Amino acid sequence: MAFDLAALLADHQGQSFELHSRFMNRQLVKVLTTLGFDRTYVRAEGCYLIDDRGDRYLDFLSGFGVYALGRSHPVIKDALHQALDADLPNLAQLDCALLPGLLARALVERSPAGIERVFFANSGAETVETAIKFARCATKRDRIIYCDHAFHGLTNGALSLNGGKEFKKGFGPLLPGCDQVPFGDIEALERQLKRGDVAAYVAEPIQGKGVYMAPDAYWHAVQSLCHRHGTLLVMDEVQTGMGRTGRFFCHEHWGLRPDIITLSKALSGGYVPVGAVLTTTRVFDAVYSSMDRAVVHSSTFSKNQLAMVAGLATLQVLEDEDILARAADSGEKLMGALQPLVEKYELLHEVRGKGLMIGLAFGAPEARGPRARFRMMELARKGLFSQLIVVPLFHRHRILTQVAADNVNIIKLLPPLIIGDGEIDHFVSALDDVLADAQRSSGLLVEVGTAMARNSLRRGHRRTDDAPVTGAVHP
Ligand SMILES: Cc1ncc(COP(=O)(O)O)c(C=O)c1O
Repeated sequence: MAFDLAALLADHQGQSFELHSRFMNRQLVKVLTTLGFDRTYVRAEGCYLIDDRGDRYLDFLSGFGVYALGRSHPVIKDALHQALDADLPNLAQLDCALLPGLLARALVERSPAGIERVFFANSGAETVETAIKFARCATKRDRIIYCDHAFHGLTNGALSLNGGKEFKKGFGPLLPGCDQVPFGDIEALERQLKRGDVAAYVAEPIQGKGVYMAPDAYWHAVQSLCHRHGTLLVMDEVQTGMGRTGRFFCHEHWGLRPDIITLSKALSGGYVPVGAVLTTTRVFDAVYSSMDRAVVHSSTFSKNQLAMVAGLATLQVLEDEDILARAADSGEKLMGALQPLVEKYELLHEVRGKGLMIGLAFGAPEARGPRARFRMMELARKGLFSQLIVVPLFHRHRILTQVAADNVNIIKLLPPLIIGDGEIDHFVSALDDVLADAQRSSGLLVEVGTAMARNSLRRGHRRTDDAPVTGAVHP
């Protein structure tokens, strides 16, 4: 009997939340229901998600950044159809298939000098695990330095490099030899590297959790410190790579030459899990140092051909549609249009970022009354205010955004890199409307805030760090 996907979906329409609640993560169901994000999306195209009522939602989250080219991109879709129809000899394993070789070459061609080898993985976290192993093996050192606020994934090794407490709680002991430094603090890094036992300094060029940026001078100092002390510079470009900040790699903004670069998310146009670890030959050869060690680090699905095809098609679309320049241009327009709102609303403290990775930082207003109300809300749940922006953006204006991290009032914008003036205008006027309401502390905002604070208190989460009621489920 043929498998009928359309019939399966039609027969079970409306059951998804119940199924997740019964068989998967019921806490996530509660979070989404609390926020009123419990929509049933049935289609997706370009910058929009479409629900079962036919309502269109502007997606400023892009599946945590994977849909850089927009959803259901016709070229990637067609490439995957072609790959399926070609009955490719996928995962023969004891072979050297053409497509991974082509994708590896294409990535090396886009990399800074010195990057010459590629290991393919299946996720962002897996690329970070790989980077940790490769760095230790290549330097024969144990220690890894990472930054506060860092996010590198949630597998054991990657979690050991997480710069916040909330994700680590309950999962210890984690990897030994991993130490944290403040992001942007060159003296703190120097104190660690001077010990001469640090294999790698691992960092995001712009931090996803909070969209924190270090001063330009920091990066040059980091690179020379790493060179001086024999520490590998690992740039985690899982979120910032593939054009997100207006360059292919974000670290290009500072002309850096890392020893290891991790990529994932947007690499396959959002269709197939994929990751890539780009390294120097020296690092790669230290790992794969003899025939005995030819498969010393590998993964069954890592070079799967659907991911490779999607990756090659994605790189082609990046060029054909001039995506890097468009991301830089739209980023400037969007930040330029948001900046006046900082002057207009005391609650909006800062708009920061590069390209289309943008953080909106909120904080207490100056005026006494609003300041007291803001403080009260923060007492009920730290970081709650930003949810009072995210929720009405969604309900009133049908725009999907995310809180950048738990316990902070920062909203992160990761729109598809194909957004145009229409999407920019829609977002800016929607935010203007929601902030106007927030400033007056009236209407929907207070309702939502009170309901959520009540909910949070009822569940005994008062001022603790473990409840994702602010919906910051991921960076
Ligand atoms: C910078 C960075 N590294 C690693 C990861 C982990 O990627 P994944 O969720 O695919 O494991 C993320 C995910 O958001 C990320 O932003």
